[in-house]
Amino acid sequence: MAVKEIKLCLLGESGVGKSSIVLRFVRDQYKECLESTIGASFMTKRVVLDEKTFIFQIWDTAGQEKYRSLAPMYYRGAAAAIVVYDITRESSFPAAQEWVKELQRMASGNIVIAVAGNKCDLEDLREVSTVEAKAYAENIGAIYVETSALTAVNIQHVFEEIARKLPADDFTPSMGTSYYLHGTAREPGTRRAQEKKGCCGGGGKRNSDIIY
Ligand code: GTP
Ligand code: MG
Repeated sequence: MAVKEIKLCLLGESGVGKSSIVLRFVRDQYKECLESTIGASFMTKRVVLDEKTFIFQIWDTAGQEKYRSLAPMYYRGAAAAIVVYDITRESSFPAAQEWVKELQRMASGNIVIAVAGNKCDLEDLREVSTVEAKAYAENIGAIYVETSALTAVNIQHVFEEIARKLPADDFTPSMGTSYYLHGTAREPGTRRAQEKKGCCGGGGKRNSDIIY
Protein backbone atom coordinates (compact mmCIF):
# COMPACT_ATOMS: atom_id res chain seq x y z
CA MET A 1 0.00 0.00 0.00
CA ALA A 2 1.17 3.54 -0.75
CA VAL A 3 2.82 5.21 2.23
CA LYS A 4 3.36 8.89 2.91
CA GLU A 5 5.42 10.29 5.77
CA ILE A 6 4.22 13.54 7.25
CA LYS A 7 6.57 15.56 9.41
CA LEU A 8 4.39 17.56 11.74
CA CYS A 9 5.06 19.79 14.74
CA LEU A 10 2.90 21.17 17.50
CA LEU A 11 3.45 24.71 18.74
CA GLY A 12 1.77 26.84 21.40
CA GLU A 13 2.07 28.20 24.91
CA SER A 14 3.06 25.94 27.76
CA GLY A 15 0.12 24.10 29.28
CA VAL A 16 -2.30 24.45 26.36
CA GLY A 17 -2.28 20.67 25.91
CA LYS A 18 0.09 19.89 23.03
CA SER A 19 1.52 16.75 24.65
CA SER A 20 -1.94 15.69 25.77
CA ILE A 21 -3.20 15.94 22.19
CA VAL A 22 -0.29 13.82 20.97
CA LEU A 23 -0.76 11.26 23.74
CA ARG A 24 -4.46 10.98 22.92
CA PHE A 25 -3.80 10.64 19.19
CA VAL A 26 -0.90 8.20 19.40
CA ARG A 27 -1.89 6.02 22.36
CA ASP A 28 -5.48 6.99 23.09
CA GLN A 29 -4.48 7.93 26.61
CA TYR A 30 -4.98 10.99 28.78
CA LYS A 31 -3.01 11.97 31.89
CA GLU A 32 -4.41 14.55 34.26
CA CYS A 33 -0.95 15.58 35.33
CA LEU A 34 1.39 15.42 32.39
CA GLU A 35 4.90 16.75 32.87
CA SER A 36 5.88 19.90 31.01
CA THR A 37 7.91 19.01 27.92
CA ILE A 38 11.65 19.65 27.91
CA GLY A 39 13.01 20.62 24.48
CA ALA A 40 10.68 18.50 22.38
CA SER A 41 9.41 14.96 22.18
CA PHE A 42 9.01 12.71 19.17
CA MET A 43 6.37 10.14 18.41
CA THR A 44 5.05 8.43 15.33
CA LYS A 45 1.62 7.24 14.39
CA ARG A 46 0.40 5.29 11.41
CA VAL A 47 -3.02 6.15 10.05
CA VAL A 48 -4.86 4.50 7.18
CA LEU A 49 -7.17 6.95 5.45
CA ASP A 50 -8.95 6.61 2.10
CA GLU A 51 -6.89 3.46 1.40
CA LYS A 52 -3.62 5.34 1.90
CA THR A 53 -1.20 4.94 4.76
CA PHE A 54 0.16 8.03 6.45
CA ILE A 55 2.97 7.92 8.97
CA PHE A 56 2.90 11.01 11.12
CA GLN A 57 6.29 11.97 12.48
CA ILE A 58 5.23 14.19 15.31
CA TRP A 59 7.47 16.73 17.01
CA ASP A 60 5.81 17.96 20.17
CA THR A 61 7.66 21.16 21.10
CA ALA A 62 8.07 22.61 24.58
CA GLY A 63 5.96 25.70 25.19
CA GLN A 64 8.04 27.17 27.99
CA GLU A 65 9.67 30.42 26.92
CA LYS A 66 13.17 29.13 27.65
CA TYR A 67 12.81 26.60 24.82
CA ARG A 68 11.41 29.01 22.24
CA SER A 69 14.66 29.27 20.28
CA LEU A 70 14.61 25.50 19.64
CA ALA A 71 11.34 25.61 17.72
CA PRO A 72 12.83 26.29 14.25
CA MET A 73 14.59 22.91 14.43
CA TYR A 74 11.17 21.28 14.55
CA TYR A 75 9.09 23.40 12.18
CA ARG A 76 11.80 23.68 9.51
CA GLY A 77 11.02 21.11 6.87
CA ALA A 78 7.69 20.28 8.50
CA ALA A 79 4.84 19.59 6.12
CA ALA A 80 2.28 20.55 8.73
CA ALA A 81 1.92 22.30 12.06
CA ILE A 82 -0.79 22.27 14.70
CA VAL A 83 -0.80 25.58 16.52
CA VAL A 84 -2.57 25.05 19.81
CA TYR A 85 -4.23 27.48 22.20
CA ASP A 86 -6.35 26.86 25.27
CA ILE A 87 -9.95 28.08 24.92
CA THR A 88 -9.96 28.82 28.67
CA ARG A 89 -6.84 31.01 28.56
CA GLU A 90 -7.21 34.20 26.59
CA SER A 91 -3.45 34.92 26.43
CA SER A 92 -2.81 31.65 24.65
CA PHE A 93 -4.69 32.80 21.54
CA PRO A 94 -2.44 35.78 20.64
CA ALA A 95 0.49 33.51 21.48
CA ALA A 96 -0.80 31.04 18.88
CA GLN A 97 -1.09 33.87 16.36
CA GLU A 98 2.55 34.75 16.99
CA TRP A 99 3.48 31.16 16.16
CA VAL A 100 1.49 31.36 12.94
CA LYS A 101 3.34 34.55 11.97
CA GLU A 102 6.65 32.85 12.64
CA LEU A 103 5.62 29.85 10.54
CA GLN A 104 4.54 32.15 7.70
CA ARG A 105 7.92 33.90 7.81
CA MET A 106 10.24 31.00 8.45
CA ALA A 107 8.67 27.64 7.65
CA SER A 108 8.13 26.01 4.29
CA GLY A 109 5.85 28.14 2.06
CA ASN A 110 3.31 25.38 1.59
CA ILE A 111 3.14 24.21 5.21
CA VAL A 112 -0.36 23.10 6.20
CA ILE A 113 -1.41 24.86 9.39
CA ALA A 114 -4.16 23.77 11.75
CA VAL A 115 -5.29 26.05 14.56
CA ALA A 116 -6.59 24.00 17.48
CA GLY A 117 -8.51 25.46 20.41
CA ASN A 118 -7.93 22.76 23.02
CA LYS A 119 -9.78 21.99 26.29
CA CYS A 120 -13.17 22.47 24.64
CA ASP A 121 -14.61 20.23 27.36
CA LEU A 122 -14.27 23.24 29.68
CA GLU A 123 -17.02 25.29 28.04
CA ASP A 124 -17.94 27.05 31.30
CA LEU A 125 -14.44 28.51 31.52
CA ARG A 126 -14.22 29.62 27.90
CA GLU A 127 -12.31 32.86 27.27
CA VAL A 128 -11.74 32.62 23.49
CA SER A 129 -14.84 32.65 21.30
CA THR A 130 -15.26 30.06 18.57
CA VAL A 131 -16.45 32.70 16.13
CA GLU A 132 -13.35 34.85 16.59
CA ALA A 133 -10.92 31.94 16.36
CA LYS A 134 -12.66 30.39 13.37
CA ALA A 135 -12.66 33.70 11.49
CA TYR A 136 -8.97 34.09 12.22
CA ALA A 137 -8.18 30.58 10.95
CA GLU A 138 -10.21 31.08 7.80
CA ASN A 139 -8.44 34.36 7.16
CA ILE A 140 -5.04 32.67 7.19
CA GLY A 141 -6.25 29.64 5.23
CA ALA A 142 -5.76 27.29 8.16
CA ILE A 143 -7.76 24.29 9.31
CA TYR A 144 -9.74 25.16 12.43
CA VAL A 145 -10.82 22.76 15.16
CA GLU A 146 -11.72 22.82 18.79
CA THR A 147 -10.26 19.77 20.49
CA SER A 148 -10.29 18.04 23.81
CA ALA A 149 -7.49 15.70 24.71
CA LEU A 150 -9.57 14.74 27.73
CA THR A 151 -12.68 13.61 25.84
CA ALA A 152 -10.84 12.91 22.53
CA VAL A 153 -13.14 15.27 20.61
CA ASN A 154 -11.64 16.16 17.21
CA ILE A 155 -8.20 14.75 17.99
CA GLN A 156 -8.14 12.10 15.27
CA HIS A 157 -10.09 14.49 13.04
CA VAL A 158 -7.45 17.25 13.03
CA PHE A 159 -4.70 14.87 11.94
CA GLU A 160 -6.94 13.41 9.24
CA GLU A 161 -7.84 16.87 7.96
CA ILE A 162 -4.14 17.66 7.70
CA ALA A 163 -3.47 14.44 5.78
CA ARG A 164 -6.33 15.27 3.39
CA LYS A 165 -5.09 18.81 2.81
CA LEU A 166 -1.55 17.77 1.94
CA PRO A 167 -0.73 17.25 -1.74
CA ALA A 168 -1.54 13.72 -2.86
CA ASP A 169 1.98 13.00 -4.03
CA ASP A 170 5.17 11.72 -2.39
CA PHE A 171 3.70 8.31 -1.79
CA THR A 172 6.18 5.50 -1.88
CA PRO A 173 4.88 2.09 -2.97
CA SER A 174 6.28 0.33 0.07
CA MET A 175 8.81 0.83 2.80
CA GLY A 176 10.44 -1.00 5.67
CA THR A 177 8.21 -0.36 8.63
CA SER A 178 10.02 -2.30 11.32
CA TYR A 179 11.70 0.90 12.51
CA TYR A 180 8.36 2.23 13.61
CA LEU A 181 7.10 0.96 16.90
CA HIS A 182 3.38 1.44 16.87
CA GLY A 183 2.80 4.61 18.76
CA THR A 184 6.28 5.71 19.72
CA ALA A 185 9.71 5.69 18.18
CA ARG A 186 13.07 6.36 19.67
CA GLU A 187 15.63 8.43 17.89
CA PRO A 188 19.28 7.61 18.53
CA GLY A 189 20.89 9.72 21.19
CA THR A 190 17.66 10.98 22.62
CA ARG A 191 16.84 11.69 26.20
CA ARG A 192 13.79 12.09 28.34
CA ALA A 193 11.73 15.03 27.35
CA GLN A 194 9.42 15.48 30.26
CA GLU A 195 9.96 17.30 33.49
CA LYS A 196 7.73 17.29 36.51
CA LYS A 197 5.08 19.96 36.77
CA GLY A 198 3.88 21.39 40.02
CA CYS A 199 0.27 20.42 39.49
CA CYS A 200 0.52 17.06 41.24
CA GLY A 201 2.66 18.36 44.08
CA GLY A 202 5.73 17.09 42.25
CA GLY A 203 4.51 13.52 42.49
CA GLY A 204 3.65 13.00 38.83
CA LYS A 205 4.90 9.83 37.23
CA ARG A 206 7.45 10.34 34.49
CA ASN A 207 6.26 9.53 31.03
CA SER A 208 9.36 7.62 30.13
CA ASP A 209 8.57 6.84 26.52
CA ILE A 210 8.16 10.43 25.46
CA ILE A 211 11.69 11.32 24.57
CA TYR A 212 13.65 13.54 22.28
P1 GTP B 1 4.30 22.22 27.62
O1 GTP B 1 4.88 20.85 27.44
O2 GTP B 1 4.75 22.89 28.89
O3 GTP B 1 4.50 23.09 26.43
O4 GTP B 1 2.69 22.05 27.80
P2 GTP B 1 1.68 21.28 26.84
O5 GTP B 1 1.10 22.24 25.86
O6 GTP B 1 2.31 20.06 26.29
O7 GTP B 1 0.49 20.90 27.84
P3 GTP B 1 0.15 19.47 28.43
O8 GTP B 1 -0.30 18.54 27.37
O9 GTP B 1 1.25 19.03 29.31
O10 GTP B 1 -1.17 19.82 29.26
C1 GTP B 1 -1.14 20.62 30.42
C2 GTP B 1 -2.29 20.21 31.30
O11 GTP B 1 -3.52 20.66 30.71
C3 GTP B 1 -2.44 18.69 31.45
O12 GTP B 1 -1.76 18.21 32.54
C4 GTP B 1 -3.91 18.49 31.61
O13 GTP B 1 -4.21 18.56 32.98
C5 GTP B 1 -4.52 19.71 30.94
N1 GTP B 1 -5.17 19.40 29.67
C6 GTP B 1 -4.59 19.08 28.48
N2 GTP B 1 -5.51 18.88 27.54
C7 GTP B 1 -6.70 19.07 28.13
C8 GTP B 1 -8.06 19.01 27.68
O14 GTP B 1 -8.38 18.75 26.51
N3 GTP B 1 -9.02 19.28 28.60
C9 GTP B 1 -8.75 19.59 29.91
N4 GTP B 1 -9.76 19.83 30.73
N5 GTP B 1 -7.49 19.66 30.36
C10 GTP B 1 -6.48 19.40 29.49
MG1 MG C 1 4.19 19.29 26.42
